[in-house]
Parts: sequence; structure tokens; C-alpha cells
Amino acid sequence: MVERKWDFDSWAKNYDQSVLKTDWIHENYSYAINFVCNEIKQIAQKSLKSLYVLDIGAGTGNLIAKIVSLPNLVLKAIEPSKQMRIKFLEKCKNIEIVPGLLPKIPVKDNTFDILVATYVIHHIPSNEIGVMVQEFRRVLKRSGTVIIVDAMFESQNALALLKKELENNGDKEMIEEIEDEYFPLVDNLKTEFVKSGFYITIHRLGTFTWYLQANINK
Ligand SMILES: C[S@@+](CC[C@H](N)C(=O)[O-])C[C@H]1O[C@@H](n2cnc3c(N)ncnc32)[C@H](O)[C@@H]1O
Repeated sequence: MVERKWDFDSWAKNYDQSVLKTDWIHENYSYAINFVCNEIKQIAQKSLKSLYVLDIGAGTGNLIAKIVSLPNLVLKAIEPSKQMRIKFLEKCKNIEIVPGLLPKIPVKDNTFDILVATYVIHHIPSNEIGVMVQEFRRVLKRSGTVIIVDAMFESQNALALLKKELENNGDKEMIEEIEDEYFPLVDNLKTEFVKSGFYITIHRLGTFTWYLQANINK
């Protein structure tokens, strides 16, 4: 499986330590993962039946490890990197994890109640986001929910202003990191979800970290 330009297999070894170092992308990683867990917990508490949850780009399993003991959840994960999958299975024994690469999602139509992707979307090129959102729509059940957490920028204008400021401060490293990945623009993401028939709520969890929740417009 081709994982584009980043070497996630090598990152798997020290992934858990590296996200806790709180660089700007993972400025509040643990808080954000806990926030998502609580949202999933609240959705599950309102449901009378079991909910099928798919963690896309699950990495080493930090999210699933925190919700595995909740009642009423049937969990599955997708992860393209073999080494990440190995780490995942050390932490989340007995949870099904399969290879897969967004924008495509290798599962059947209308099969999941919750799709979650934390810190994954910034690896998806902007011109594939539309297809990815259509895939979310395809695999989600009618009353389902998409949850995304990632570093994002509010708009093209906000990004341009930030880059200017970084240039003035001589912060080449952050400029390179911004240019090396595909950090979504909140405006663009909203547009793609609305185009595919979702309504969304989106808010900040930190300076760069955003939480998006999308549901299908009935
Ligand atoms: C920064 S890690 C996030 C892992 C995990 N979701 C978390 O919050 O800790 C990004 C993960 O996305 C996976 N990934 C990269 N490109 C992907 C793609 N196109 N589709 C699905 N997963 C992808 C990587 O292999 C990696 O495990």
C-alpha cells in the first residue's frame, strides 16, 4: 500500500512519545483525543442500540484504546501503515484493523454510525477532500456522525497572515511544515461537507486544533 511521501512505518516506533511533545500540530493531543472520546460516549449514551464506529487512520490506537471499554460500541479501524497496525494491535487486542487509504474507504455502504479521523486529514491532498467526504456519506448510516480533529487554518487569508508573521520571525521550520502537508482550510472543509449533504458544527480546541462534527441533512 502506497502511503505517499511520509514514512509512517518509521514513525510508529516513537509515535506515542512524539505526539506528547506538543509541537504546534499536536499542541494539545491528549486533550483533543479525550474530547473526541467524550463526544463518542455522549452519542453512545443516547443510543438504544449498538453503534458501529470506524476509526480511520487509527495509528497506534490511542483513541480506540480509550473507548474500548464503553458499552454499546462495535469498533473497527483502518490504517495504511503496517507498523502502525502492529502497534495498534499491541494496545487494542481483538479489535479489527484493516489496511486502507483515504480518500477511499474499504467498507460497504451504510454500515457505520460514527466515522472518526484524528490528525489524518492533513495528509489528504486538498483536491481529494471532496471524494473523501462523498465516501464518508456513502459508508455512514442515515443518522450517522463524522468526527474530525486536526490542525487547520481558518481561511486562506488567515494562513497568509500567519505565514507573513512566521517569515518576519524567521520561523522557517513551521513554514516548511505547513507547506509539507495539506492542512485543511476550515472554509473549504465546510463547503465540501455541505456539498455532500451534511450539516456541520466546527470549533477550535486550541490555537491550530479544530473539532468538526458532521451529520447527514435529513
Ligand atoms: C498523525 S497520525 C494520527 C494517528 C491517530 N489517528 C491519532 O490520532 O493518534 C496519521 C495516521 O494517518 C495514517 N494515514 C496517512 N495517510 C492516510 C490516508 N490517506 N488514509 C488513511 N490513513 C492515513 C498514517 O499512517 C498515520 O497512522
